[in-house]
Amino acid sequence: MTPYHQLETNALTEIKAAKDLPSLDAIKVKFLGKKGAITDLMKDLGRCTPEERKEKGQALNVLKQKVGAALDEKKTALETAHINARLAEETLDLTLPGRTKECGTLHPISHVIEEVICLFGEMGFILAEGPDIEEDYYNFEAVNIPPEHPARQEQDTFYLPDNHEGKKMVLRTHTSPVQIRTMLKEKPPIQIISTGRVFRSDYDMTHTPMFHQVEGLLVAENIHMGHLKGCLTTFLEAFFDRHDLPIRLRPSYFPFTEPSAEVDIGCSRSADGSFSIGHGDDWLEILGCGMVHPKVLENGGIDPKKYQGFAFGMGIERIAMLKYGIPDLRTFFEVEAGWQRHYSFETTAFPSLLTGLHGGLGR
Ligand code: PHE
Repeated sequence: MTPYHQLETNALTEIKAAKDLPSLDAIKVKFLGKKGAITDLMKDLGRCTPEERKEKGQALNVLKQKVGAALDEKKTALETAHINARLAEETLDLTLPGRTKECGTLHPISHVIEEVICLFGEMGFILAEGPDIEEDYYNFEAVNIPPEHPARQEQDTFYLPDNHEGKKMVLRTHTSPVQIRTMLKEKPPIQIISTGRVFRSDYDMTHTPMFHQVEGLLVAENIHMGHLKGCLTTFLEAFFDRHDLPIRLRPSYFPFTEPSAEVDIGCSRSADGSFSIGHGDDWLEILGCGMVHPKVLENGGIDPKKYQGFAFGMGIERIAMLKYGIPDLRTFFEVEAGWQRHYSFETTAFPSLLTGLHGGLGR
């Protein structure tokens, strides 16, 4: 029998009886910790005679190893028991339906607006904004549409009560007033695009009382129609993702541009009403543009003798319908879930789409 028989029995009995890991830890501290019973005895060895030290030292080492081994063994046993208990207790019902996350999508209008902003942004255009409720002056007169001008009747305007300063107000009928607002605020060179809602009192398959436009304006020295055509060609080829998109500028009239042009893209229409962009012998009108009228530059506080500019305006819904084959304009605003699922975009779709377009342009 070793001198530490009683201590050994106590330690092993306690270890054997431990119910869980925390109590096992407490036992470890009690016997082997810094101030533990076995540790204390080892410290006492210093005071023994060499013979005693040898004998007791060996016995204490054996004891320490035995207790350590018992602790390890018990620890493994307790851990296994713990896992087994959890396995028995926690059951997984694999037939339960998973928790799905409803994820919103981008309305095609928002998607196209973002796309247009990015493409013009690549060409150096900066985003500008103007109000939906606009002064009659900015919407019409400042862009060279005087009160008696027939263009006023063409743009079935929603007139509003005069504002608190007695100014005539309208729901803007186009984004062109942003041209004036920008020119009055900034000095050339100016290179902006602006998108947003416009309003006209009209409703059928191709007209809704509210729709969206994008307006472009560039004012600098020595600007000519070649710059305008180059800029719009770059945009249209990228937007419709076609290198060889047939594009033509057809003389037209807008009060705020001179000369003015309508931009057509090549398309084909077959007898059954189907339609495709980019080839064939037909043309489709897609946007209006021209060189900024000298009067408009003057109204914007810019000297038309020194500076020239080009401007363009197009309907967002129209280009969205063409690109994504959406047949009826009214459906954009009917908020029908099935339609939205069909025509909308994942919120993450845009960056990859942009990369694709860049690739398509061979840049
Ligand atoms: N504002 C014009 C429209 O609403 C479009 C346009 C903008 C035409 C700029 C020429 C220049 O139809």
